[in-house]
Amino acid sequence: MKIAIALGTRPEIIKMSPVIRALEKRQENYFVLHTGQHYSYNLDRVFFEQLKLPQPKYNLEVGSGSHAQQTGKILIGVENALQDESPDIVLVEGDTNSVFASALAAAKVHIKVGHVEAGLRSYDRQMPEEINRILTDHCSDYLFAPTEKAKTILLGEGIPEEKIFVTGNTIVDAVYQNLGIAGERENTLGALGLYPKEYFLVTLHRPENVDNKPRFASILEGLDKVAAEFHLPLIYSVHPRSRQRMNRFHLEPKNVRLIEPIDFLGFLQLESNARLILTDSGGVQEEACILSVPCVTLRDNTERPETLEVGSNILAGALPDKILSHTGFMLNRENKWNNPFGDGNAAERIVKIIMEDN
Ligand code: UD1
Ligand code: UDP
Repeated sequence: MKIAIALGTRPEIIKMSPVIRALEKRQENYFVLHTGQHYSYNLDRVFFEQLKLPQPKYNLEVGSGSHAQQTGKILIGVENALQDESPDIVLVEGDTNSVFASALAAAKVHIKVGHVEAGLRSYDRQMPEEINRILTDHCSDYLFAPTEKAKTILLGEGIPEEKIFVTGNTIVDAVYQNLGIAGERENTLGALGLYPKEYFLVTLHRPENVDNKPRFASILEGLDKVAAEFHLPLIYSVHPRSRQRMNRFHLEPKNVRLIEPIDFLGFLQLESNARLILTDSGGVQEEACILSVPCVTLRDNTERPETLEVGSNILAGALPDKILSHTGFMLNRENKWNNPFGDGNAAERIVKIIMEDN
């Protein structure tokens, strides 16, 4: 049994790390195929080093480009690698161009595909990730749904029940495996001059928010208002896409402190000690929920409705006054909820399922 782990971006590296650890522990025959979609040190290599992951056997170095360029290059590169290696299964995680292109390349050469984090839907087809999710699910042989809700969505789309496995989300595994180490090893708060529960943490990188100047400006105005109203520093880890757009649109938030993207242990420390998190990231919505930190999502929809149901998250959209009022609401809400994303053993379950079935 030979397993290929295909990945290409920051969240895939983080969410696949527990699967890689589980394969290492069992001494299974696997290799990592990196598409190279993310390549900057702080979006890529830092996670391999910090999470002690093996170097990828392949790096396709596709880099940045349009959707078609990225998807096309990944399809060609993955097909070549799969022909050299002939694995029995390719595992992908999430909803990026790397995920969809790798899954499609594998399915076309009749190699089985396992989709970790299957069945998420925002029902917003303007999002590139929504197209990637749907298409990846529909060319997968194993659909590892994080929750019963995700399974119900897949069943509703006609996917046979025997292909669907509710495993929990591997982000819970990643948080549990690393939170203790983060507390011991990092002093990110000290380095930034921050005190526990006395700052807000922000991430914002979705094209629908940052590629649109009026919308990006409106969100930044909302963040400025939040910092001013609650007299707390607001720390924004700026994704390179957002940095570029901020420069291009000449946007300079007044009360927001911008920092470069940081490593996972440092970011976990920032998240777990934040008073509240404002974000448009999928992974960060989940982590806030797992870490019992209230979250305000700077979007009009989410493919993580479980967070809304348990009360850890609220959708604020992009209007400044709504961002302010929703932040106030979440600050006053009791932050006691159950984590709906599993018990931290998702990766072990996924590996067990594919090993027993092949
Ligand atoms: C991609 C995913 C998105 C995911 C995000 C995780 C798609 C369609 N989008 O978005 O779902 O949430 O990754 O962070 O797959 N850049 C760098 N260094 C890098 C990579 C990118 O500077 O290592 C810059 C480039 O200018 C590039 C821009 O960021 O043009 C966007 O990169 P891209 O890979 O196209 O999409 P992301 O916004 O990162
Ligand atoms: N993250 C990180 N450093 C940062 C910002 C985020 O390690 O400075 C991690 C975060 O903990 C989460 C993941 O990156 O696990 C989320 O990735 P991103 O927001 O880029 O993608 P998405 O989840 O929206 O697809």
